[in-house]
Amino acid sequence: MVQPLRIAPSILSADFARLGAEIAAVDEAGADWIHLDVMDGHFVPNITFGPQFVAHARPATQKHFDVHLMIAPADPYLEAFAAAGAETITVHAEAGPHLDRSLQTIRDLGKRAGVALNPATPAVAIEHVLDRLDLVLVMTVNPGFGGQAFIPAMLEKIAQVKAMIAGREIDIEVDGGITPDTAGDVARAGANVLVAGSAIFKGGTSAYAGNIAAIRTAAEAARGESC
Ligand code: DX5
Ligand code: ZN
Repeated sequence: MVQPLRIAPSILSADFARLGAEIAAVDEAGADWIHLDVMDGHFVPNITFGPQFVAHARPATQKHFDVHLMIAPADPYLEAFAAAGAETITVHAEAGPHLDRSLQTIRDLGKRAGVALNPATPAVAIEHVLDRLDLVLVMTVNPGFGGQAFIPAMLEKIAQVKAMIAGREIDIEVDGGITPDTAGDVARAGANVLVAGSAIFKGGTSAYAGNIAAIRTAAEAARGESC
């Protein structure tokens, strides 16, 4: 089963004062999903927003809401993010002692369950939860900020995750430093959901469609080669 290619703009790089318009603009510009980065100033050294913000963003688009929780603990907030309109909820493998329980909770809430792996976390962290998973997020930078440089060593981890999921219908997502220059490499390694913040939200609203298309074209070309 080949998972579809999806480009997911991260609103971390959007103008929060114009949130609804920014989301509508990337929707119209060809985004497949909208990626929302939740940070708590504890698990990561930055603070963004919570479930109420997600709920306020929700009416701006019909597109899939992909909520990336960089918070610890995550369990007490899963229900609130589900109620706010998240469709995929991703927790970090490093965020708590009971990953299996967190994933069960997300699915019990009727949502798709994801696990994120920090750059230093080995792929094997997901080995025993594969059947509870809809998405694996391989962080290609250390989480916390937009605009950081892609870590090339993550290409090997993407390939390892691809081998581990062995044809299951699980998305492999990458997040951090994704540009038209890195999109081909991550797609070739096996990633099918490409998150990008600074590479999409640049150049003003009129540039968004071209920015998304450049990432998509690079990823599609690489996927074509490997078929
Ligand atoms: C980083 C966040 C990312 C961030 C990516 O911790 O999880 O989603 O927005 O930003 P870029 O694409 O600029 O590296
Ligand atoms: Zn993210």
